[in-house]
Parts: sequence; structure tokens; C-alpha cells
Amino acid sequence: MAGVSEIEQMLAEALSAIKSASSIKDLDDIRIQHLSRKGRITSVLKSLKDLPLEKRKEIGAAANKARVTLEQSLKDGLERIRAARPTIAVDPTLPGIRHRVGAIHPLTSVMNRLCEGFIRMGFGVAKGPDLETDYYNFEALNFPPDHPARDMQDTFYVEGGKLLRTHTTPVQVRILEMQKPPVKVIMPGKTYRNETVSARAHCIFHQVDGFLVDEGVTMADLKGALFAFCRYFFGEDVKVKFRTSFFPFTEPSAELDITCFLCKGKGCALCKYSGWLEILGCGMIDPFVLSNVGLDSEKYTGYAFGIGVERIAMLKYGITDIRLFFENDIRFIRQFK
Ligand code: DAH
Repeated sequence: MAGVSEIEQMLAEALSAIKSASSIKDLDDIRIQHLSRKGRITSVLKSLKDLPLEKRKEIGAAANKARVTLEQSLKDGLERIRAARPTIAVDPTLPGIRHRVGAIHPLTSVMNRLCEGFIRMGFGVAKGPDLETDYYNFEALNFPPDHPARDMQDTFYVEGGKLLRTHTTPVQVRILEMQKPPVKVIMPGKTYRNETVSARAHCIFHQVDGFLVDEGVTMADLKGALFAFCRYFFGEDVKVKFRTSFFPFTEPSAELDITCFLCKGKGCALCKYSGWLEILGCGMIDPFVLSNVGLDSEKYTGYAFGIGVERIAMLKYGITDIRLFFENDIRFIRQFK
């Protein structure tokens, strides 16, 4: 049985442990060691009943005093540790942390508006794969092997004989294989060409192709649709003209120019002092393409067009370096809020 001096020894040990405790957990351990149900001081108090009265008084008083002292000391220790913890100053008058509002990438917004112009004229939207076969990208579009027109489109070839599509026009073939006329769709997407990257050209860019195939479609329908689109996209007072051109998959082929929206046709740096801006390629779908997908090219005719999204975005926003679109520099993108 512990005597008074042992109880005092226990207390002294506990007090010195409390002094050097550095965490709440340390204090808890000391409490458990001495004051829990099986703790050292509790055990002394529990065994008092077996002692003769005199001893009981003496040891009981010492043990009780030790318990009270220890409890107070634990309380003080807890306060000391709490006070030593770093406090986080809360100042409710500080201004809030400002979150920057993002902006839609200029290519995305131009792409969306281009599509919207045609969707409003009743065009559906279709997508095709970026990884294409030579057949869809070239052959079905009347680019025979070794045809010089293939040189217009430097191609990335991929292992296994596939290639990265050089335009979105192959989707036209895929759709015409699946859907019977009348068909009227636009086909937005990424396109790839093996070009040296410069301010004017990139190896990755975007196009929106579109076409209509039905009975009795003429060049007048093409003009009507594209003129309406130009008024929607560039404004009511825009003037439009066709210039003859060549694409293997259209006959006749044309390019469409609009009056420069910066100088209104007077001539400026944007239009290289011509007053006109070239904005898309188009034409009547070559009968070869139609019969290739099993359509009767005597019965059906169609028009098609293809727009370069970067070019339109560069013209619209006065961007002089195409590489800016793909660098994702937040200072660039933020300007298009
Ligand atoms: N595919 C052509 C290109 O990438 C653009 C084009 C021209 C698409 C005329 C068409 C079209 O659908 O009819 O240069």
C-alpha cells in the first residue's frame, strides 16, 4: 500500500510531466495515468477502505489533495497549451478574395455563332472522326491517287494507313452514305495539316463544312443560303461576291468574298487595300461524289461550303497571329469576355 511520501512522489512526477507537456494529448495521457478508473491515484483512493482508520485519514487526505492539485494543474496546463497555439486572426472587414470570371475561347464562340447561323436556317449538325481513311478524306471526294490537288493539303499520315483529316468535308461522304436526301447539315470540327507553324498557318485548326442534297438544288440555293448567313454573321449591310475557284469535289467551285467590315470596302490593312475579304470555299457538289455514295446524280444535286474558323476569328477580332489561339495564355483569352 502506498504511503504519504509515495503519493507525494507520484504527484511530483505528474506535475513535472504536466510542466513539460506540449500537447493536449500529452495532458490526456497524464490524466489517464493518474486519474482514470485504474489510474495511480484512483487506485490509492479505492484501497482506502481496507486500511485502519488512522492510516485511512492520513493517506486519504494526501491522496485527495494530490487529486485536487493534479486536476487544477491539468486545467492550467490545458490553458497554457491553448494559449500557445497560433491563432488565426479573422478580420471581417477585409475585402473578399476576388475570383476571376473566365471567358469563352474566341474560337469556341466564333464556332458557336457560325453554327447558329446555319442551324437557324434549318441545318442539322453532324460530326465525324478526326482520324480518317484516305478513302473518305480524298478518294471519295474525287482526289484520285497522285492527283496534284492532294498537294494542296499536306497530310499527317498515321501508323496503320490512316490519316488526320485535312478538312471536315469527308463527313459529307459519311453522312450521304447513311442518309437519303433531302439532307441539310453542317459539320464542325478539328482539322490537321502538316504545315510549318507560323503566324499565318497552324498544323491544327477548325472548319465548319455544310451541304444540302435534294432534288432540284441549284447554285441559286447556295447563293441564297450563304448570303443570308453573311448578313446574319457580318451584319445587314455586308456585300458579297463569288469568285471562281477549284475544289475536286465541287463543280463549279467558288470562293466567297465579303466587303471588308473594318473599312466597309474602302481599303485598309485588314483587306490588304482590296476592300474584300475571302471567307469561305463552296460550290455545287460534283456528280462524281454523289454517284460514289450510290445517289442518282441525274435526280439529285447539292451544294456545299467550307469555312475556316480561325480565319474568321482572326478577321473578326483583328488577331494577327494564329498561334495565339492554341497557346492558352490567359491574358489573351481574357480579352474576349
Ligand atoms: N475542304 C475545303 C478546304 O479545306 C473547303 C471547302 C471548299 C469545303 C468547298 C467545301 C466546299 O465543302 O464545297 O479547303
